Amino acid sequence: MAGDHPAHRPRVGAPGREEIALADGTRLVLRPLGPADGAALTTALHHLSPRSRYFRFVGVRREFSPEELRFLLGADGERHVALAAWDGVELAAVARFVICGAGPVAEAAVAVIDRAQRRGIGKLLLERLRTAALERGVTCFTGEVHVENAPMLRLLRKLGGKIGLASLGVCSATLALG
Ligand SMILES: CC(C)(COP(=O)(O)OP(=O)(O)OC[C@H]1O[C@@H](n2cnc3c(N)ncnc32)[C@H](O)[C@@H]1OP(=O)(O)O)[C@@H](O)C(=O)NCCC(=O)NCCS
Repeated sequence: MAGDHPAHRPRVGAPGREEIALADGTRLVLRPLGPADGAALTTALHHLSPRSRYFRFVGVRREFSPEELRFLLGADGERHVALAAWDGVELAAVARFVICGAGPVAEAAVAVIDRAQRRGIGKLLLERLRTAALERGVTCFTGEVHVENAPMLRLLRKLGGKIGLASLGVCSATLALG
């Protein structure tokens, strides 16, 4: 039905600013990642271990190219939503989705800097991203996960995701959001 297509829905505002407290008491601010956050994003890339970088970008990545930075900072809050977790001025994590084509499916990705991992941030960001996605008519996240990426595979299973068979070291994952 045409009226159900995301393009025909009224615009939804970008996720707002939110203060949260982790189980260990650390306070973080969640807000969309914006064009002014390039330096913080580049620093965060350096705060990912080579293994985490490999898992997030499926390849060796030391710096972002100008095109990648433009894309990563250029979420429009509608078809591309990027939500960041800030520990003071330090960027601790980013989760994003990009709506693929016309369908209600979006490709999602998340990365938490190594020293902030295993404290509930990845799960929390994916839950916030899920809410933002549903508001935009997205009913399913997809993504590719390396077969050795036990943390992400466990997190996805915990959220009810389905992991497909591996091909060339990568599994396709789907997470129904409804
Ligand atoms: C995968 C990733 C996003 C998880 O984020 P996180 O903040 O560390 O995860 P959380 O603390 O929210 O953990 C949620 C659940 O994930 C699983 N998990 C997270 N880290 C884990 C680890 N090192 N080993 C096993 N399970 C793990 C657990 O089930 C955990 O629940 P529990 O703490 O109750 O056991 C993070 O490890 C990361 O950024 N990795 C590098 C980039 C990456 O792989 N991105 C995904 C690309 S597809």
